[in-house]
Amino acid sequence: MKFLKDKKILLCITGGIAVYKAVGLASSLRKLDVELKIAMTPAATRLVAPVTFSSVSGAPVYVDEFSVDGGWIPHTELSRWADALVIAPATANTIAKIAAGMANNLVTLSALAFSKDAKVLVPTMNVRMYGNPVVKENLRKLASLGWTIVEPAEGALACGEVGKGRYPENDIIVDAIAASLLPKKLKGMKVLVTAGPTREPIDPVRYISNRSSGKMGYALARAACWYGADVILISGPTNLPDPWGVKTVRVETAEQMHRAVMEHYGDAHVVLMAAAVADYTVSNPAREKIKKSSDNMVLELRKTVDILEEMGRKKNSQILVGFSAETNELQKNAFEKLKKKNLDVIVANDVSRKDVGFESDENEVVILTEDGSHPLDKMPKIDLALAILDFIIDRFGIDRARSHDPDS
Ligand SMILES: Cc1cc2nc3c(=O)[nH]c(=O)nc-3n(C[C@H](O)[C@H](O)[C@H](O)COP(=O)(O)O)c2cc1C
Repeated sequence: MKFLKDKKILLCITGGIAVYKAVGLASSLRKLDVELKIAMTPAATRLVAPVTFSSVSGAPVYVDEFSVDGGWIPHTELSRWADALVIAPATANTIAKIAAGMANNLVTLSALAFSKDAKVLVPTMNVRMYGNPVVKENLRKLASLGWTIVEPAEGALACGEVGKGRYPENDIIVDAIAASLLPKKLKGMKVLVTAGPTREPIDPVRYISNRSSGKMGYALARAACWYGADVILISGPTNLPDPWGVKTVRVETAEQMHRAVMEHYGDAHVVLMAAAVADYTVSNPAREKIKKSSDNMVLELRKTVDILEEMGRKKNSQILVGFSAETNELQKNAFEKLKKKNLDVIVANDVSRKDVGFESDENEVVILTEDGSHPLDKMPKIDLALAILDFIIDRFGIDRARSHDPDS
């Protein structure tokens, strides 16, 4: 995530039992090359020592709000310095204090003094504490005051009970931090994204599929969400977790993908079709597992519906973006697809290369429109996703998409 490099993040740690998991968050943020400083409540230091955070992150750790040094007052300096303030884990106690405007330790003081938009809070606690209406009310209040609240996960809790209150995956928290730092360029827009391969059954245990990992489509869905869009991701089978903040619909076959996409197409302002949908499906999949008997076996295949072609035909004022995976004559083949399918943009990549494309975390693409081509450098898929969205926003203007009223 190029744009996170050198961003100043104040990571605030409070006294929840999940504090040891935030050690991993501090370490992940270091790997993203952010500038990191850490503030801990006294309660947090009773669960994990400051030296642990300092060692894994290389960041200074502050605890005492009265350790004023030559006019350097910790809470005013840290809150002015930071681009983003993140509280993970956030205890019920700290949440209540911030909601009430109280400030009697370095974390609550810094939160009160922090005046920028990027404020992220990760509540974690016992399931009954989380369910308490007073906690819910405090969180609602903080959300209405512009805090990004990362919902806790459900499952086994440290206390032995089961329910909602667990510390979420650190990757989710990093996504929420990224989102909080980016401008909401796509606010009010509905973005439909497809990702991953499809699976066409041969029999109940076998299928035909392809090598798409879904990483590019998931990156696009995450990036659109970070830019403030309302995102629906229709995904074929992948090993990737549902992205934070995105409504994810899982499908398996090309036919299911077709149905799910058409259900949401009418509502969408921007459509990014990154899935590798099968062109052919098995005509008559067997009901029972096929036994190994004859030496040769012939499978009869029939064409699937061309979803992109149908979308191009039915296009109202959606901005329709296709992806083209080519092994030869990249630009020529992609441009033909753009024209044939009535697309606004096509993103072409060379899948014969081992270092980019399918399964890789990086990609190098050329963006084509009817009047030109725009090559982008090789970069991580998440940075590429943001660059593709920036291109679309600049090229078409948000107004064109916004003027499309799906209900009209
Ligand atoms: C072992 C232990 C685990 C705790 N875990 C949590 C927790 O997960 N969430 C929470 O809200 N409070 C938890 N508490 C209670 C807080 O530590 C307590 O409310 C404390 O005053 C919080 O201070 P702080 O908000 O300033 O960090 C825990 C307490 C103990 C002793």
